[in-house]
Amino acid sequence: MSTKLLDHKKIERNVTLLGVLSLVVVAIGGIVEIAPLFWIDSTVEKVEGVRPYTPLEQAGRDIYVREGCYNCHSQMVRPFRDEVERYGPYSLAAESMYDHPFQWGSKRTGPDLARVGGRYSDEWHVQHLKNPQSVVPESIMPRYAFLAQRDLAGYDAKGSLTALSRVGVPYSKEDIEKAAADMILQATPFSDTTDLMKRYPKAQARDFDGDPTRVTEMDAIVAYLQMLGTLVDFESAKPQEQAR
Ligand code: HEC
Repeated sequence: MSTKLLDHKKIERNVTLLGVLSLVVVAIGGIVEIAPLFWIDSTVEKVEGVRPYTPLEQAGRDIYVREGCYNCHSQMVRPFRDEVERYGPYSLAAESMYDHPFQWGSKRTGPDLARVGGRYSDEWHVQHLKNPQSVVPESIMPRYAFLAQRDLAGYDAKGSLTALSRVGVPYSKEDIEKAAADMILQATPFSDTTDLMKRYPKAQARDFDGDPTRVTEMDAIVAYLQMLGTLVDFESAKPQEQAR
């Protein structure tokens, strides 16, 4: 037998030596995998169009979490053919990079909501949230009619954006200062939203709950539902994919 193989026999017969050498090999592998993470800022690839939530959308998101909508709805389209055909393009990591907490989940008593934005009218959402069975007779979703009665003014938009900026969401000082005003502005019809749109591209501003006289929790949650999955432009990416 060659001497090399005999050397290896030594290692295999000496438990301490085998242990030490295994540790060295595993440590090299570990360093190669872990060390780069100390120098890169983010493991999430940036995608054009993804931006932090507007104060109104964030308020809607907090109501979504408060009401436990995630107990029945996930927000992640998985990269499987059946899911993509039913819900649309599969979710990208970047689309939930500003989510605290994220809403991926695997519990789907109701459908996935990651791409529900723009699929229904505001009126449909309001009617559905007030009384799901009135639009989908077999639905087992609970009623949330009280959201239309609750004023949003009590929501601490500035506090919420401050907290999010501390965990890395890139809100500017201006965004935080204007948070409360932005929130009301986005749901008030006929208001000047040029400044809001500049800071939050693709934001949708209008009266969402059908009651233009006040801004309610219903405005916030419908604004949130209507923006889900609308930030990334998948349509313009399509022709490129087909051309390949
Ligand atoms: C007990 C489980 C349950 C809870 C909690 C729940 N839902 Fe639903 N949801 C469903 C079911 C089932 C459906 C499918 C039938 C229907 O459209 O009502 C549904 C449908 C929906 C749809 C329509 C989705 C589509 O693509 O057709 C939206 C939007 C929605 N829910 C939003 C919400 C929001 C917002 C909340 C929290 C305020 C919530 N749901 C809480 C079970 C639930």
